[in-house]
Amino acid sequence: MLGLGRSRVELKTPEQIALMRRSGLLLSQVHDMLARELRPGITTAQLDALAEEMIRDHGATPNFLGYQGYPATLCISVNEVVVHGIPGAQELREGDVVSIDGGCIVEGWHSDAARTHIVGQPRRPADVELVELTERALWEGIAALATARRVGEIGAAVEDFVEAEAGETLSHLEGFGGHGIGTAMHMEPDVMNYRTRDRGPKVVPGMCLAIEPMLIQGPGDWEQLDDGWTIVATGGGRAAHWEHSVAVTEQGLLVLTERDGGAARLAERGIRTAPDPVAS
Ligand code: MF3
Ligand code: CO
Repeated sequence: MLGLGRSRVELKTPEQIALMRRSGLLLSQVHDMLARELRPGITTAQLDALAEEMIRDHGATPNFLGYQGYPATLCISVNEVVVHGIPGAQELREGDVVSIDGGCIVEGWHSDAARTHIVGQPRRPADVELVELTERALWEGIAALATARRVGEIGAAVEDFVEAEAGETLSHLEGFGGHGIGTAMHMEPDVMNYRTRDRGPKVVPGMCLAIEPMLIQGPGDWEQLDDGWTIVATGGGRAAHWEHSVAVTEQGLLVLTERDGGAARLAERGIRTAPDPVAS
């Protein structure tokens, strides 16, 4: 590509990153609200309605709704559903593994983040391990971005972490990954969760990326349901999905969709985050 790849990545000014932070902070508050509402008996459609109402009440817009015809504000993926589950009449049950993915637009700037919860009790130890390792894999990827020269180092770090911690017990959802984010939800570059031949573009200030490991218990086989969205693991295992939108700035990383900007989780790894441009 004659080294032109980087020119296709949208770089944001500090003022634009402040708007992305407003979008990300609202989204983190929507996720906090959903975590409080999650309980046995609630339907995934009810959670979706709560998220849409809160986003609109804050003058923002859901970005999944209508995206390539997607019919909801959230993707809610339960147990063997890995990603892109469509909210509906399904009632959550004790012990379900529930991945909630959402995003919004504030003044034209997109955010995208996912968390996985286990509903109530009992929690199967293998599910607790799955959810915790997927979240830690996300933070390993974010930490790698802090010192990376190339975007491909994120996937290498996620792959190495999962291999070291889980060996063969967990598989990546192959063919899916993260992405650049900004004036659209899905932008250049791709942010894979494993090593690829392409080392990716150079990491430069102004770059904003959505990093999103998706892990499955056992083999990584999957299929898409006839609804054209739902991705289901077919090897008998359950799945988890964690995602943050992250900005690279001159002063370090800012995890846009985490309340504290990533300060606590990155400090554990010896990394300082950028000052938060938005008072929360
Ligand atoms: N966060 C998801 C992703 O980046 C977005 C889901 S696709 C949608 O893959 F259509 F639901 F928006
Ligand atoms: Co995403």
